[in-house]
Amino acid sequence: MSLYVQTIEAFRQAFPDQGAPVLCRAPGRTNLIGEHVDYNGLPVLPMAIQKEIRIAAAPASSGRIRLRNRDAAFAPAEFSNGAEIPPSAPGAWENYCKAALQGLNRYFSIEEFPGADLLVDGDIPVASGVSSSSALVVASALAYLSVLGKPFGEGFSKLDLATLLAEAEQYVGTRGGGMDQAIILLGQKDRACKIDFFPLRAEAVPLFSGHAIILCNSMVKAEKTGNALMRYNQGPLMCRLIRRLVEHQAKQMFDEEVEIARLAELWYGPLCLTHSEVADLFEATFPKTHTSLSAAAAVLGMQAEDVRDDILAGLDEPPGGYPLQSRARHQLTEFRRVEAARDCALAGDAAAFGALMNASHESCANDYGVSCAELDALVAVARGCGSIGSRLTGAGFGGCTVNLVPVHGIEAFHAGVTQGYYRDFLHREPALEAILVVEAVDGAGVIS
Ligand code: GLA
Repeated sequence: MSLYVQTIEAFRQAFPDQGAPVLCRAPGRTNLIGEHVDYNGLPVLPMAIQKEIRIAAAPASSGRIRLRNRDAAFAPAEFSNGAEIPPSAPGAWENYCKAALQGLNRYFSIEEFPGADLLVDGDIPVASGVSSSSALVVASALAYLSVLGKPFGEGFSKLDLATLLAEAEQYVGTRGGGMDQAIILLGQKDRACKIDFFPLRAEAVPLFSGHAIILCNSMVKAEKTGNALMRYNQGPLMCRLIRRLVEHQAKQMFDEEVEIARLAELWYGPLCLTHSEVADLFEATFPKTHTSLSAAAAVLGMQAEDVRDDILAGLDEPPGGYPLQSRARHQLTEFRRVEAARDCALAGDAAAFGALMNASHESCANDYGVSCAELDALVAVARGCGSIGSRLTGAGFGGCTVNLVPVHGIEAFHAGVTQGYYRDFLHREPALEAILVVEAVDGAGVIS
């Protein structure tokens, strides 16, 4: 039985009274380069992968949403559809479906809220940095759009859906950017995509012939709505403070009333700065490695508690202050790496692309603080086993690494990483598909 038939069969068993369902799919993704920059409006270079979430869905007259998951680890859930859908407990899987429904209800100003039955199926590993959560949001959204009878067309495009879902997913408590929803919807077979934001746009980028993209799972679970949530949110929150302080400094340096809604506007906005001007601006704003709450408050003419509560959403000051200098530096250097990586891909220069991936990992680990001992060990082993570029992918704190490996070296890579990381470092055998060659696939859609 094909996977799609299995999903529909599972739907029939879960909802025996229902008619024929619509079937939607949404792939996971891996990010090749451009990490923790999307929420500042800076570009990223991901691809959609063959692992996917599938949802079979049909309207129901009750006004209730019934959710079933083919994986028994995810308990059934049920709730009333409406303008305000109260979230379940943090970490509950159904919150991702709720996020999509509430986002679409608002976008289309829905007043009569339909019921629906949804059966969720799929094979994206969870909490592994390959975006099972956003795939669930996107698949739920496609299923609900069909219940609402709102197909893509004039006035509503995949770009519109990706934009609205990026915001809608904040319902679960993460302050993510728009990369995941965008690549999941706009991915292209055999291509990576360079994605730019505000406004959202995606440009196909060739992959390297003769090289495979291989994911290696560190086996450290990074639950974006669980243990990694606060750690993830530290990035966007510190960037908010960086933006406010940089804005203040820019006024002095350029003698202009500037308002910077997001850091990308330093380059793309009215200031239109060069990379070296941005570097100078960051240096002037953050002369010390760490910035204390009181120093930030003095610059902004605010009370320290107001800076913490209003700008940093309560993020406590770490001992020694917030490491804003290195966090800002990562934004600039990662932006430059993404632009350079796209040029390397166009030039077919895999070696240079791989070097940029390696540098990105170092910056994520040292300047942005989103790696962990296991990810660092895994990239080191991988580089010693023939990978020409290895880095963490996605939010970090665990999950997967992404590796660029010459096709003739795949077997040696597999054997070397199995020994060097899983056996020697973790003292275990690799789980099924812990090492996975990924293909770039088309973005999400309705199958039937
Ligand atoms: C998560 C978020 C994305 C992005 C990455 C890090 O996947 O959902 O928006 O910030 O982390 O690059």
